[in-house]
Amino acid sequence: MTKEIHLKDKTFVPYISEDKILSRIKELGQELRLDYGTENILFLSVLNGSFMFTSDLMKEVTGEVELSFIKLSSYVGTSTTGEVHELIGLNQDIEGKKIVILEDIVDTGLTVDRVRTMLKMQNPSSVEVCTLLYKPDAFKGDSAPKYFGFEIPNKFVVGYGLDYDQLGRNLKEIYQLKE
Ligand code: XMP
Ligand code: MG
Repeated sequence: MTKEIHLKDKTFVPYISEDKILSRIKELGQELRLDYGTENILFLSVLNGSFMFTSDLMKEVTGEVELSFIKLSSYVGTSTTGEVHELIGLNQDIEGKKIVILEDIVDTGLTVDRVRTMLKMQNPSSVEVCTLLYKPDAFKGDSAPKYFGFEIPNKFVVGYGLDYDQLGRNLKEIYQLKE
């Protein structure tokens, strides 16, 4: 794994390797298919951060799946603004569908709570959350994500889709803020 990196004014150290990420995603894909049997799963990927996770996870889920994207933002720099703004909404009928929301990271849980509320108004058959990273110590939401790749401490991370002020999304590994 590569050494520490610099993005703007901050330094980050390697935290989760590409190999670890990909093998955990493979397990997640298998777990999802086992749980849903032969049913169609509608994945709803929350942009921008989830694009890489979504792409790699899709390749590990066999059988019938659908994929849509939604875009929200709740972060400025390294601290949450506490406000979630919907930027691009869902333009597909989800009534009766089994939905799995895909997130790069569940931090306070505000973002997924907002998405869940929005979706429930359209009567899907079920809504679960699958996130690559989960910060249990920061979580303030109603219910913890059913599927997660890694539980991590309450420290800022970048890479593999996650950004620091829009930088770092292209990194193959996940890095943690150096303190
Ligand atoms: P909430 O607090 O709503 O946050 O669960 C979810 C969204 O906030 C972003 N986020 C992060 N982005 N490193 C990042 O690059 C982090 O450590 C981090 N924590 C939260 C992310 O966009 C997520 O969808
Ligand atoms: Mg995000």
